Amino acid sequence: MEVTPLKHAAGKKCEMGATITGLDLNNISDEDLAALKDAIYRYQYVNIKNQHDLEPVKHWELVTRLDPTAPPVHGHGTLKEFNKTGGFLSKRVVQGIPGAENVRLIGKGYQGADHFGIKDFTAAGGASNDYHKYPPSAESFAAGNTQFQRWHMDAPLYDREPPHFTALRAVKCPVGPDLQVNWDDGSNQSMKCKPGQTAFVSNTQLYELLNDEEKMLADNSWVEYAPFPYMWVENCKGRTNGLGLETEGKEHAMEEMPEWDQEKIKTVRPLYFPLYENASIDVRNLKYPMVWKTPTGKKALQVHGLAVRKMFLKATPTSEVQEVDDVVKIRKLLHDWQERIIKPEYVFMGPVEEGDVQMWDNWSVFHTAVDYPDHYGPRSMHQVNLGASDKPVGPMPISVS
Ligand SMILES: [Fe+2]
Repeated sequence: MEVTPLKHAAGKKCEMGATITGLDLNNISDEDLAALKDAIYRYQYVNIKNQHDLEPVKHWELVTRLDPTAPPVHGHGTLKEFNKTGGFLSKRVVQGIPGAENVRLIGKGYQGADHFGIKDFTAAGGASNDYHKYPPSAESFAAGNTQFQRWHMDAPLYDREPPHFTALRAVKCPVGPDLQVNWDDGSNQSMKCKPGQTAFVSNTQLYELLNDEEKMLADNSWVEYAPFPYMWVENCKGRTNGLGLETEGKEHAMEEMPEWDQEKIKTVRPLYFPLYENASIDVRNLKYPMVWKTPTGKKALQVHGLAVRKMFLKATPTSEVQEVDDVVKIRKLLHDWQERIIKPEYVFMGPVEEGDVQMWDNWSVFHTAVDYPDHYGPRSMHQVNLGASDKPVGPMPISVS
């Protein structure tokens, strides 16, 4: 097993990424597994080459071995639960690979007569520009202009904890000329990418872009995510740079959400099973620090802005807590901070080829798909992650009152 740090092009400021060779994920020793985990933490993103023959059950086994005490369920729960409360995430049809249902087939286009046992399936409605309020025009898109789809971490943000790692296998990649990703926000920013690539930014690097006062505020503050957050915002549309939502008042009122008992939320310890139906959750599980400490001793500004319903701001350790429940104010603050890293020099395009398994430290990066025109051909990805056994820890304590 060899880990080689990626070399970024001149002018780039991104620091993440490594290539791993000499590893067979069908047959990985405990020693190599530990080295893989260390590499993911250190480089935040790794691209494991030549896994063409990976068995789906071994793909799933990989993430369970990396977090062996976690409940053995995909980060988004079973497909039944996901389809019920997944909001805009479940507007596309997501399939589990037969015999390894926690391995999810995502992608675009016709997946073939028999894709690992899935027959005649065409993937549609996934990571597309349709999610945007102002997507590129049909003509512009056909000519190769696109946008970042949605910057995010892979996280249910309700009940289960965010997965530590995602393992994304490229079974089939689209082919064709490079695309141009446009910010389309008046900034004139753009960058090139290959069709089917996933983009990444480091949120530890983002933290370091805050000034001292902002770091102090971020260190001491926390957020509360909406229950069933992707359902809460299912009617909202994304911004052109892929970060967050256009605010149009389309979030569901809490009365419109599936039943959840406020008293139970405040008083009952979390139960992992059953996951959504009759789930009882502790409010502390809905509150996350803004800043998550990483195993490497760094700090990541890790806030999934589109799912945040409340913010609890504390400028210093001894300041009064300021509760903010106005999504306009919440999003303004987060966009101001997070857009500092959504820039061509910091965005890293995963150099994926068919047979690769990309993995990342999901607690310290954001990633996004980038839509491409149909004529580039189908994209077949197998995505696996596992709701974590622990919850993120911030640099300062959170009030549970
Ligand atoms: Fe994702």
